[in-house]
Amino acid sequence: MNFAAKITGTGSAFPKNRVSNSDIVKKLAKSGIETSEEWILERTGIYERRISDVENPKEQNSSLAFSAAQKALEMAGKSPEDIDQILYATCSPDTPLPSSGCWLQHKLGAHRAWAMDINAACSGFIYGLVTAEKFIQAGQVKTALVVGGEVLSPILNWEDRNSCILFGDGAGAAIIEQIPSDSSRRILYSHLLSDGNLWELLYVPAGGSNMEVTPERYAKKLHKLRMKGKEIFKVAVKTLADFALQALKKNQMTTDDLDWFVPHQANRRIIEAVADRLELPMEKILVNVDRFGNTSAATIPTVLDEANRDGRIKEGQMVLLDAFGAGLTYGSILMRW
Ligand code: ACO
Repeated sequence: MNFAAKITGTGSAFPKNRVSNSDIVKKLAKSGIETSEEWILERTGIYERRISDVENPKEQNSSLAFSAAQKALEMAGKSPEDIDQILYATCSPDTPLPSSGCWLQHKLGAHRAWAMDINAACSGFIYGLVTAEKFIQAGQVKTALVVGGEVLSPILNWEDRNSCILFGDGAGAAIIEQIPSDSSRRILYSHLLSDGNLWELLYVPAGGSNMEVTPERYAKKLHKLRMKGKEIFKVAVKTLADFALQALKKNQMTTDDLDWFVPHQANRRIIEAVADRLELPMEKILVNVDRFGNTSAATIPTVLDEANRDGRIKEGQMVLLDAFGAGLTYGSILMRW
């Protein structure tokens, strides 16, 4: 018997605190850094983002994931005991050890599952979905929980106007189930790639095993995210478009066959530039970056959940997921919903 994989439930959760562009302008002004609401909106398309209160246990990374997972389980008609595998995509885990996957397993009471984290930054949810699909195809997993969850706000440098304006916190989850391989509604195609040569475009120097955070390094903010925004922008537009075209070509399709394009939500201008290259109308593209900013691994599952719940995505429609992230990492998935 051969198997395929299909998403049967989605969920998402965000912290309560809405941080508008005007709030960011005020926050940066306290450090003597200039920006404006107009600049942020025009250059990014972001109006607001959610920021976790990390002292509140309900707003920690795996707690947001817990809420998202509960909603996904409910939609799929499954309980935590049904989960065989938890794949948790994050680059901002609750703790270095254990994994956020294990924290989530503990919170859910999913005692039959095995859990691990995947760090592919913003491409993480796609990496997780592809990994789940492979275990399902091999017959080793029947029900997987794939999460993209981030609480990036503590590692943002709130004195770097180039990067802190972009990001937000949140989590999205999906239940993936085993189905017969001849089912038409399934994951049809995937493609993953990374290019470690481009590590310097987005990284956090200290806090890992090769650079302990000492008081001196803390003062230099070496434990905070560093980003070369302009360079990432160019690579992102090219690779998102290339990966999308490749996915369509390999499946003998054109953009006309696509019902929904679901790109990583880093910046509305990146999404528009890719739409332009693909000659795809914005009406076919799911967007939530305007309200939540770049939530890294959480952008794709949260925007998918929104469109799934409000009925925009319908059974049988063709959906293309497409992401890039720190690493750099890239990934795409084509599926019939
Ligand atoms: N307010 C006002 N001015 C600003 C701000 C700000 N917040 N930020 C930068 N500027 C200034 C710059 O200093 C620059 O001034 P200069 O010309 O005097 O040097 C000017 O605005 C233009 O800067 P650019 O970098 O050319 O601005 P750009 O239009 O490229 O927008 C941005 C910058 C928003 C960072 C954009 O390049 C971007 O979104 N890049 C992609 C980043 C990204 O996707 N990162 C996430 C990767 S995914 C992951 O794994 C997490």
